[in-house]
Amino acid sequence: MSHFALQNGVLHAERVPLSAIAEQYGTPTYVYSKARLLENFAGYAAPCAGRDALVCYAMKANSNLAILDILARQGAGFDIVSGGELLRVIAAGGDPGKVIFSGVGKTMAEIGLALEKGILCFNVESIPELHRINEVAGRMGKRAPVSLRVNPNVDARTHPYIATGLKASKFGVAFADALATYRTAAALPHLDVVGIDCHIGSQLLDDAPLLEALDKVIELVDTLADEGIHIHHVDVGGGLGIDYGTGEAPPVPASAYVERVFARIDAWRAARHGGKPVKVIFEPGRSIVGDTGVLLMAVEFVKPGEEKNFCVIDAAMNDMARPTLYQAWMDVQPVKPRQGTPVTYDLVGPVCESGDWLARDRALVVEPGDVLAMMAAGAYGFTMSSNYNTRGRAAEVLVDGDQVHLIRRREDPAELFALESLVK
Ligand code: LLP
Repeated sequence: MSHFALQNGVLHAERVPLSAIAEQYGTPTYVYSKARLLENFAGYAAPCAGRDALVCYAMKANSNLAILDILARQGAGFDIVSGGELLRVIAAGGDPGKVIFSGVGKTMAEIGLALEKGILCFNVESIPELHRINEVAGRMGKRAPVSLRVNPNVDARTHPYIATGLKASKFGVAFADALATYRTAAALPHLDVVGIDCHIGSQLLDDAPLLEALDKVIELVDTLADEGIHIHHVDVGGGLGIDYGTGEAPPVPASAYVERVFARIDAWRAARHGGKPVKVIFEPGRSIVGDTGVLLMAVEFVKPGEEKNFCVIDAAMNDMARPTLYQAWMDVQPVKPRQGTPVTYDLVGPVCESGDWLARDRALVVEPGDVLAMMAAGAYGFTMSSNYNTRGRAAEVLVDGDQVHLIRRREDPAELFALESLVK
């Protein structure tokens, strides 16, 4: 069920009219549905019940503390990519013992922080990184749990900017080098080799490439076992796509995909390991939060042009980078649809860049002051926003039934330069 739907001619988030939120909190504002968040998480977590499995939410998609807190209470772990994200998990009451740390460029300080807090695992992407983690752990008198991110060279069939599992990608260890890299890891004195992971891309509309990557990973685990390197968890990464309103048919709810992963794993364990279970980790981001959020924005002006008509809105590329960065098509709906003859507009913001557009060629009936909602904006929306043009970032609001909670207040421009100093 959609938690963003028209009721009495007004688009609602659960039981709250979005017009009321725009009035109270202003625009641009991100609005999230708690019910949808819980449903999406349950799509992963329900099939995991009773098994040794962990859903590590990839918090780069949306790292608001309130979102993290809700997920942590549901038992989520977290996939992080920086020390800052680890501090967020802790601030939200999440358990560092359920954190996995991904990314190609972990600094010494970040590794030290993660070891101090006792994270579950480092997802390592190169031999130099193995040496660095070993060195920091040795200095701290600790052992670091590591997994290697292998690159199975599977085509995720998605936008090139968000495909990560190909040979040309900066991510992961090439499949051909995986065995040697595992041997290096196993020989380092301050590392415990505990897992294997892969992540082939994002916004996948078909889970076949994910399962193909899993098959390759499984083969590698057996090769490692023959070498005496025993893997305790298999991390299948994230990547499931969502419906952006162009007829995509993503595998939702995620439970069917999760069941398919377990079926593969169980058949393999039964055939090769006497049924001995292996822990399974998932790293979903977009499919947990993407369709839980909308971005509210108001029409400032309509500006007819020679070739194009422009609808100038108060949200811009700094609030939502996906359209200009990935040519992503995001659905835009009026909060109070009007009668009339639609006009085709490009929706553009006030930022001084030709690339500052949020949607193109949309047929809308709008007037200045109208509020529009960019749909399915909950993932990689706020987290990728910036202060370009000294624009304070949008407010964030969470709706729970008929309750509205402000979970991040709008930034005041004065706060944006508060860290700067004049040269005396
Ligand atoms: N695990 C790793 C190692 C990742 O790099 C990512 C995403 C995820 C998990 C979560 O993937 P998801 O389930 O969200 O597909 N900003 C882009 C997406 C970048 C994805 C980066 N990595 C966008 O807005 O489309």
